[in-house]
Amino acid sequence: MSSVSSKPGPEPEVIAIACDHAGHGLKTVILKLLQEMQVPVEDLGCASAAESVHYPLYGKKVVDALLARPRSRGILICGTGLGMSIAANRFPGIRATLCHDIFSAIMGRRHNDANLLVMGGRVIGPDLAKEIVRTWLNTPFDGGRHQERLNLLEQLAREAQPLAGKA
Ligand code: RB5
Repeated sequence: MSSVSSKPGPEPEVIAIACDHAGHGLKTVILKLLQEMQVPVEDLGCASAAESVHYPLYGKKVVDALLARPRSRGILICGTGLGMSIAANRFPGIRATLCHDIFSAIMGRRHNDANLLVMGGRVIGPDLAKEIVRTWLNTPFDGGRHQERLNLLEQLAREAQPLAGKA
């Protein structure tokens, strides 16, 4: 049974980040924070809030980056965080948690080993978002029984894949 872990590894952890137009303002704030924290970042767009874009396309860019580098992590931001969460969690190996409070950020790492943090730029303000990102980056996975459950998520998703699209 395969599993994808975002536990710190020997290589530096890169944060792949993307947003749609509704998340662009908050992404700018988070990019500045990550720069201050000296966290390596890969910004996968979009480039401005001026043009309406499709969030699934930007969600997939971060998904692809994480699947290519299983020890990296990602951040996705749209208006509510809901569309990006739906987009990302369709893919095995992705554990995207929508966090608009500190407790969710902590538990998403401790119990779900979240490799993708999702936020809504129209839901929370910049200061809370920054605290969520700091907390999420610094909270380790508890492992143990939680790893068994993550393995089950992967197993069930892969078993369902041949049926996908037939419903
Ligand atoms: C864009 O208007 C908005 O629908 C999008 O950012 C997101 O909130 C979707 O879930």
